[in-house]
Amino acid sequence: MRPLIIIGNWKMNGSLAVNADWVKTVCRGMEQGMPAGRQYAVCAPFPYLAQCSQLIQDCSLAFLSLGAQDVSAFESGAYTGEVAASMLKEMTCKYVLVGHSERRQLHQETDELIAEKALQVLDSGMTPVICVGESADERNSGREVEVVRGQIAKQVAVLQDRLADCLIAYEPIWAIGTGQVASAQVAQDMHRAIRLQLAEFDGDVASHVGILYGGSVKPDNAVELFAMPDIDGGLIGGASLNPQDFLAICQA
Ligand code: 13P
Repeated sequence: MRPLIIIGNWKMNGSLAVNADWVKTVCRGMEQGMPAGRQYAVCAPFPYLAQCSQLIQDCSLAFLSLGAQDVSAFESGAYTGEVAASMLKEMTCKYVLVGHSERRQLHQETDELIAEKALQVLDSGMTPVICVGESADERNSGREVEVVRGQIAKQVAVLQDRLADCLIAYEPIWAIGTGQVASAQVAQDMHRAIRLQLAEFDGDVASHVGILYGGSVKPDNAVELFAMPDIDGGLIGGASLNPQDFLAICQA
């Protein structure tokens, strides 16, 4: 059985004061009791990882952990402005997002680079969350499965068996920050297609890999999404900024 995993992605939001309030509120809420067998995390901006790491350790709930939003494809050296996987590990990160559509679009990240980043994360003992998803144009022209299959194929080619230790996040670009959530069935269909593609490579990998859905997940649509057989959790953007909404999604 794959555990349900719910990860908040704050993107470029937060402040020392806001973060402290967020972690304390979420912690207090989670201490009241959470559905068993789930994992939760929040991906904070780099400068706040140390702060959030301390806050999350103080809260000491085994199922709540920290994540980062990106990582360098290089191990160390002359890469001004980059952050190494080993540094994220020291900051107690458990998950690292790679290939978020905002990085693909705004920073021209390629599938090859994303796979290199995922390798760095794995080599440092953390879990990469590999983000994939099609644009509105690609879906409207009926190419959504082809596009996502292309993205996954590049990851399979580089990561091979190590994909078993990764998470995949299907985030259709048209659903991110738009309020236009994919229906549970549309999301399930793509998650199924991804799992079948992984099974073409290796049945064990396919049954192990958690596939999260992201894109306008809110407290009122989370239950239906998470009930789908191939949806193993969520990657939550806007709604994760509000601790009460994040808690409600975690409890869905
Ligand atoms: P929203 O939940 O704001 O649509 O963002 C999704 C996302 O990009 C999470 O990584």
